[in-house]
Amino acid sequence: MTASTDSDVGKFLNSIDLLAVDRKLGEVARVRDASLSGDTVKATVELGFPCNSLHDSIRDRISDELRAETGAENVEINLQTRIIRHAVQKNLKPIDGVKNIIAVASGKGGVGKSTVSANIALALATEGASVGILDADIYGPSQPHMMGIVGEQPVSEDGKTMLPLRAHGLQVMSIGALIDPDQPMVWRGPMVTSALDQLTHQTQWQDLDYLIVDMPPGTGDIQLTLAQKVPVSGTVIITTPQNIATIDARKGLAMFRKVSIPVLGIVENMSTHVCSNCGHEDAIFGEGGAEKMSRDFDVRVLGRLPLDARIREQTDSGKPTMIAEPESAIAQAYRAAAWNISAAQAAERTDHSSKFGTIVVEASK
Ligand SMILES: Nc1ncnc2c1ncn2[C@@H]1O[C@H](COP(=O)(O)OP(=O)(O)O)[C@@H](O)[C@H]1O
Ligand SMILES: [Mg+2]
Repeated sequence: MTASTDSDVGKFLNSIDLLAVDRKLGEVARVRDASLSGDTVKATVELGFPCNSLHDSIRDRISDELRAETGAENVEINLQTRIIRHAVQKNLKPIDGVKNIIAVASGKGGVGKSTVSANIALALATEGASVGILDADIYGPSQPHMMGIVGEQPVSEDGKTMLPLRAHGLQVMSIGALIDPDQPMVWRGPMVTSALDQLTHQTQWQDLDYLIVDMPPGTGDIQLTLAQKVPVSGTVIITTPQNIATIDARKGLAMFRKVSIPVLGIVENMSTHVCSNCGHEDAIFGEGGAEKMSRDFDVRVLGRLPLDARIREQTDSGKPTMIAEPESAIAQAYRAAAWNISAAQAAERTDHSSKFGTIVVEASK
């Protein structure tokens, strides 16, 4: 096909492959005002996920393809980011100030949920989104450490709601602020579920595109509360390549499917070990676990992070790798995971209420 009308141009644009996220442009972006007149093609492309560092290459790619397709000499692409709200569980209402809640979960502890959550949240923010992180791990809240804000307490101006803490450009709230992690679990148990509900609904989140929820391990009470009370638009499952970790991750994945929360995909942490002496890269935990899970459950592998001592040193000391070494290959791997996660979210169903709103706005133009 050779595009010769405005609508052909729109269709062609939608069919262009975005290699960085392995999606068609039309899956993760909205094309507006496509026009072809004489030897000039124009269009506005609204990307549904943050990827500022990719904009130049995406614009070039689109322009080259359009030139080849239409024969036009002048191509004017107006590339924008527009992150919209996505559908949540049927009976729940979205939270004020938060467009999309993405839960980061795993069947098992110690696989790197908190580390991945922290760095992905920072990567989404550096790529152009407004991001918050909610630490829901009652067994060991780690975000205050990772964000370098240990001991800081959220303030309440009205006695009813709390202002989120701020760190590295993120809005941060931790269940550790409401519940003393040193208290025995029997006391904490009943408080935990209401605390998660409170943290999501009674924090004054300010215009977030994404709220990343760092979940505790397992498929217990907190997960149930999340599924029943928190309007979640997607989840990401963290695994490590060891078989045993993927067995647990499979349970987690199956649970979210059961409660109709979209599983955006899997992130494999500690995929390979890079020797700090010789740079040799080794799959010490074995290979193929995430691929097998991806095939069995028909979900995407959205990212792979190496096992690297710098990740632990930097992240555990309050300066996650995305902040400590933003130009490193590791930071680039987090950035790529962030594009893939947010693109997977962009490809999901949009929220019905906001869709309806858009139609009304367009009709009144
Ligand atoms: N890719 C990685 N390379 C090296 N250390 C890591 C990596 N991911 C996580 N860690 C370290 O492993 C430990 C457990 O990670 P954490 O994110 O707290 O796991 P979880 O939240 O799943 O319990 C932390 O000390 C963390 O710094
Ligand atoms: Mg954790």
